[in-house]
Amino acid sequence: MTKHKIILDTDPGIDDFFAMLLAADAQNLELRGVTAVAGNQVMEKIANNARGIAQLLGWDCPVSIGADRPLLIPQITASQVHGDTGLGHFPLPAPQKDADKRLAWDFIYEEATALDGELEILAIGPLSNLAIAFLRYPDLPQKLRRIVLMGGATEWGNRGAYGEFNFYVDPHAAEIVFASGVPIDMVGLNVTMQTGISDEEFDDIARTVGDSRKVYSELLEFYRNIYRVNDLGFRIVAMHDSLAAAFLTDERVLEMQNAKVQIDCSTGLCRGRSIADFQSESPNARVAVAVDRPRFWDMVMHSLQNAPDVRVQSSASGK
Ligand code: BDR
Ligand code: CA
Repeated sequence: MTKHKIILDTDPGIDDFFAMLLAADAQNLELRGVTAVAGNQVMEKIANNARGIAQLLGWDCPVSIGADRPLLIPQITASQVHGDTGLGHFPLPAPQKDADKRLAWDFIYEEATALDGELEILAIGPLSNLAIAFLRYPDLPQKLRRIVLMGGATEWGNRGAYGEFNFYVDPHAAEIVFASGVPIDMVGLNVTMQTGISDEEFDDIARTVGDSRKVYSELLEFYRNIYRVNDLGFRIVAMHDSLAAAFLTDERVLEMQNAKVQIDCSTGLCRGRSIADFQSESPNARVAVAVDRPRFWDMVMHSLQNAPDVRVQSSASGK
């Protein structure tokens, strides 16, 4: 089986964590490294979470630290969704292994060079690390096979009027990535919002992980409740990042259409909006337009069946 050689660029983040469980369960992904980017929480917490999750999943690959803020504008986080730790109350084991000495962009470039055009990036946070990599290494685009990213939307957003969180946080970075010339698969809110967990599905998940691993269903419950408490408009909670990971593993989960995508870098009401022109004759991305929900849920459930046990420790989650 040919495996996708990937670097996972992430800001864990509750749905990032479930995406990582799914990636760990996939047989056709070869993880070359994890790069951490500030987004859902500040870098200190994100770095701790990325290293802790890698350890929990038995990943021996480098975990490299990247951008601690957007390129040009002030930082914001999503602590109201992901909690003070970035992972709710999940009792993440304290990471034992140091972060890689290379910064995220240098690590990405070195791997891309070593893999000679085979490297793919699964980007499920703000795109600051990738943008810095492109600015620093102008020949990087020719060395990457593809970027699969969770971000953007073809209609409305979840931060501001039209912005999706990852693009809203660092719209300038997103614009640089879409202008890079690297083939991009964009998995946006228009499809991820169709993967919300119903009450029945939540019960299924709770049964699947059982009592001994109920930390997983408790984490999902935290995510669900936060959405309800804050009345963000969605009663059910979407597994945004998991859908991008699922697509990389099995393209049948999404239907894609070519489009020219641009990002609104203004800081007004349209901040972070992705505009997808499906009529363009010079597309720069494939944009997800429909989802095979049952296929996706099978993958999520399979990854939860195989999720590791977690021993509860008092030094959890950088608290
Ligand atoms: C994206 O924003 C983050 O909060 C999630 O982890 C996901 O990557 C969804 O808009
Ligand atoms: Ca994320």
